[in-house]
Amino acid sequence: MAHSKTHTMEAVARGSLGPVTSEEAHLLEKLDLERLPRHVAVIMDGNGRWAQRRHMPRVVGHKAGTQTARSTIETCARLKIEALTLYAFSLENWRRPKSEIDFLMQLLREYLHSEMPLIQKNEIRMKFLGRLSELPAAVQKDVRDAMNDTAGNRGMTLSVALNYGGRAEIVDAVNAILARRSSQKSTAAVTEEELAQQLYTSGLADPDLLIRTSGEMRVSNFLLWQIAYSEIFVTDTLWPDFTRARLLESLVEFQKRERRYGGIREGEPQTEKPARVAGE
Ligand code: FPP
Repeated sequence: MAHSKTHTMEAVARGSLGPVTSEEAHLLEKLDLERLPRHVAVIMDGNGRWAQRRHMPRVVGHKAGTQTARSTIETCARLKIEALTLYAFSLENWRRPKSEIDFLMQLLREYLHSEMPLIQKNEIRMKFLGRLSELPAAVQKDVRDAMNDTAGNRGMTLSVALNYGGRAEIVDAVNAILARRSSQKSTAAVTEEELAQQLYTSGLADPDLLIRTSGEMRVSNFLLWQIAYSEIFVTDTLWPDFTRARLLESLVEFQKRERRYGGIREGEPQTEKPARVAGE
């Protein structure tokens, strides 16, 4: 184990993020690499407040937030986490001032271009979740290019939720199923598996860990179906301050939680068969 820890420390330190600090080394020591979450989802909140506290325009906070996105992506890829999903723009975000929306769209386009070498180097496959056809044409093109250019990669799947809403996702899935039923003249009942297959996240494991920065205790219409059993980690840290150490801390915290999926404690002797399994 000690050997693989040293290995991980080196892997995390390589790349664009610089050497591991003593705090990070201490956190990596505590981390059980065999029990990392398979899928981490993040609500990146607090960019505006971060900037306002510095008497700067909100967009400066978004710009700073892209640096955190980079360190989070690179660290998760190096820890060999299978999937990372970032909530970049919600359906509700259209209510913001046009200048801020334009800035965010432009920032995303620049990000996709400037980060592509890092994404390719780390073998990351990109996915986008949301009503993509409603995005500006130039953004749609960049999104398509990013997906196509990384489709052959075999490392972590990085999903960016863009023009995303959890209820809209379920409604879109239901409508896709209805359309299929109608063309097949079928009235078969819908199953959980069928619905999950029609979600934007089809093919991805559900998130084991949902991280929300900046202290708000809400899920804000994010992955409503998929987070049914996720561990939720809320930190007061604002997104631009969510450094590699804070991410490692959330992974350590995740490993302290006991996941039961409605059952009893894992490893507890099971003397009887479960009385009933959901759906049976
Ligand atoms: C929340 O902060 C953040 C957003 C709505 C946008 C997130 C975008 C980025 C971090 C940059 C681009 C990301 C990628 C993946 C390229 P907020 O504005 O809601 O902050 P506030 O709650 O303090 O106002």
